[in-house]
Order: sequence, then C-alpha cells, then structure tokens
Amino acid sequence: MTLFSEIDYKNIPKHVCIIMDGNGRWAKILGKKRTFGHQKGIEVVKKILEESLKLGIEYLTLFAFSKENWDRPTPEVKTIMKLLSKSVLKYKNTLIKNGVKLNTIGDLNDLPLESKNSIEQVKEITNKNQKITLTIALSYSSRWEIINSIKKIISDCQKNKFNIKNINEKTVNNYLCTNNLPYPDLLIRTGGEKRISNFLLWQLAYSELYFCNTNWPDFEKKDFHNAILEYQKRERRFGKIN
Ligand code: IPE
Ligand code: IPE
Ligand code: MG
Repeated sequence: MTLFSEIDYKNIPKHVCIIMDGNGRWAKILGKKRTFGHQKGIEVVKKILEESLKLGIEYLTLFAFSKENWDRPTPEVKTIMKLLSKSVLKYKNTLIKNGVKLNTIGDLNDLPLESKNSIEQVKEITNKNQKITLTIALSYSSRWEIINSIKKIISDCQKNKFNIKNINEKTVNNYLCTNNLPYPDLLIRTGGEKRISNFLLWQLAYSELYFCNTNWPDFEKKDFHNAILEYQKRERRFGKIN
C-alpha cells in the first residue's frame, strides 16, 4: 500500500492523462455485460478526480471515447452516450463546488444531441473554475485532430493570417484541440495494453508513459499513487544531458 507521505509534493505532474481501458474485460470476468464495466468506470473517474484535486494536479485528461469506438455495437455505444450525459449532470454540483473546469477534446457534434447538450451546459457553468481542468476526450482521435489542424492552418495561410515560413511548434499547437492545455507530463494506460491507440500523438512527444495491468474499474487510489511515484523516479531529459 502506497503511503501518501511517499509522494514528493514538489514534483507533482502538472498534467496527467489517462487511457481508461479494460472496462469490457473487467465486466466479462464477472460474467456481466460490457456496459456494466463502463458504469463502474464512471465511479472510478470520480475517485481519481478527487485524488487529483488532493494531489494538486492541475490538468487531468481522460480518454473516454475514440473516433474508432463508434464502430462498436450500437447498444454499447448508446449506453456509453447515455451514461455520459447522465453522469455529467449527476456530478455537475460536485464539479462546481470543487473548482473543476470541465473541458472536452474531440468532435462533440458526433454525439447524440442530449449528450452534447448536457456536456456543453456543464462546460459553460464550470468555465471560470480554476482548481483543476478536467478534459474528457470524446469522439477524439489524434490523427483526426492533426488532419483538422492542417486544414485550418492551410486555410488561414490562404487568408494571409500568417506566412507559411513562420509556422512553428507554437502555431501547430494553437490549432490542436489541446491549445488551452500544457503538454501532458504523465500518461497512464490501464488494462494491460501497451499502445497509445490514437491518443494525443503530438502532445505525448516527451511525456512519461506508465502502463499497468489493472482494468480501469479496479483502478484505485493506490494504483494512481504508484503511477505518480513511478513518474517521480523518472529523469526527464527532453533530449538534453543532465
Ligand atoms: C475502455 O474500456 C472504455 C472505452 C473504450 C469506451 P473498453 O471498453 O475498451 O474495455 P476493454 O478494453 O474491451 O476491456
Ligand atoms: C482506447 O481504448 C480508447 C479509450 C480508452 C476511450 P480502446 O479499447 O478503444 O483501444 P484498442 O482498441 O485496444 O487499441
Ligand atoms: Mg479497450
């Protein structure tokens, strides 16, 4: 069991992102439907958000639904969408009370109107909150995001907003969905797979990666602490020599 005191509070990752994977497999082990795993997964989001607030993490970004996930069976997709709008409304007051700013990346227009509206509503109400930015990736995929930004950059170049010669890293960043977020310091993926699955490909260039076998519904405070502790052991060099 990890002790709170082992964590170095001077070296807390500012931006943590999580690929919350393993809901379906978790449910299957229990002989339940995959959607039962998604339901349980929401409770874990609540716990990890609370813990992030306690630790002083400023940005928490969660991969909840990818562009590719639309190709799953319709009943599963529908249940996930319903769960999303229900949960966002259920936790609205908790988010307000705790200074959580809800943010999203991805194309909310792909979502059923009800889910889109609930999310937009809570984003609007929590817009001025400053304690932590909770970003949910919804109908998000990194290649889609990059293609979109290329289109917008070209279009703005054609409108003479800037010269092609002046395009730099900052310009590209400004056109990504994450333009209001710092680069992630730590990426956690639960569920045992060791891949990025089209998540934040540009942004993760120098993030520390942490993979664990625990399925998301089983992911607990102590697992989160372990990830942070592992992060704190890493030497981040960014290509330089320390
Ligand atoms: C992650 O869990 C949640 C979503 C992708 C919506 P999965 O649903 O991918 O669960 P596994 O990986 O199949 O167990
Ligand atoms: C990644 O998980 C997406 C989310 C967690 C939302 P997937 O389950 O979709 O990824 P793959 O298919 O295992 O790569
Ligand atoms: Mg999965």
